[in-house]
Amino acid sequence: GGPVEVALADIPPGGSKTVEWRGKPVWVVRRTPAMLAALQGHDAQLVDPQSLRDQQPAAARNAARAIRPEIFVAVGICTHLGCSPSDAPAGGPNPSLPADWPGGFFCPCHGSTFDGAGRVFKNKPAPTNLEVPPHRFAGDSRLLIG
Ligand code: FES
Repeated sequence: GGPVEVALADIPPGGSKTVEWRGKPVWVVRRTPAMLAALQGHDAQLVDPQSLRDQQPAAARNAARAIRPEIFVAVGICTHLGCSPSDAPAGGPNPSLPADWPGGFFCPCHGSTFDGAGRVFKNKPAPTNLEVPPHRFAGDSRLLIG
């Protein structure tokens, strides 16, 4: 089929929705300024901070891994063995998260951690950052995936 259309207006700041694209779950997250700030300052802990090895549209090849920094789009499948990571906020109760965790996503299967741009932390099994699927925007309030 054609691209999957996603309405953005009903995603509140800090909120997200999950849609299906080619049989895969795709997260669409509306980042807050704090979530964007949390992407800074931990490059040394990332396997591939500039996302040079990972799948994403050319326009999203930046630290935020986004065409519009406030809208993060990623395939919600761990790049290790395909489990489903979940939201892992900073300051959360999960003892598996690093002490200096900036917030992002955690995979329960083997403990991979990803920051809020889907970039994997070092010394965890996921080999590459989460995939950012092809996407584009149609005006301010619509996203097209694929
Ligand atoms: Fe996610 Fe192994 S499948 S860490």
